[in-house]
Amino acid sequence: MKLAIGNDHVAVEMKQEIKKYLEEQGHEVIDVGTNSTASFNYPVSGYKAAKLVAEGKVEGAVLICGTGVGISLAANKVKGIRACVCSEPYSAKLSKQHNNSNIIAFGARVVGIEMAKMIVDAWVNAEFEGGRHATRVDMITEIEETGALKAAEE
Ligand code: RB5
Repeated sequence: MKLAIGNDHVAVEMKQEIKKYLEEQGHEVIDVGTNSTASFNYPVSGYKAAKLVAEGKVEGAVLICGTGVGISLAANKVKGIRACVCSEPYSAKLSKQHNNSNIIAFGARVVGIEMAKMIVDAWVNAEFEGGRHATRVDMITEIEETGALKAAEE
C-alpha cells in the first residue's frame, strides 16, 4: 500500500519505528512530519496526511499524537476522511471492515510500540466488507455532505 504517516512532537520515535516497520513489509510511506521533538501543533500533520488521503494520493494514513485524539479530530475535518482512534487491534480491524476507515490513529502515550505494530497490522490487512456496512458509511457521508440525514427524519 501507499500510505502517509504523521505525528506530533510526542510521537516522533514511535512514528519513525512504525514507518520503518511498514517499509520493511513493502509499503511505500510518505512522512508528513514532524521529525522534531520541538513542540508541534498536531492539526498540521493531521491535515497534511488527511489531504493526501482525500485527494487519492495515498490509500490511507497512520496518525500518532499523545492520545491519537487531537490528530484524528483534525483529520476528520477534511471531507471524505474517516479517521478512527484505536488502542487495540480488534477495533482497528473492525474500523476498516465495518466503517471503511481510511486513517488509523493511536496515542504514543497510550500504547507501547508492540501494540502499535499490532494495531497497524490489523488495520492494513483488513478490507472493507461493504453490504449493510456500506449503507451506514453512506449515511455518515450524507451527514458530511448535506449536514442532514434523511433516514433520521422518517
Ligand atoms: C500534546 O501535549 C498532546 O496534547 C497531543 O499529543 C495529543 O495528545 C492531543 O490530542
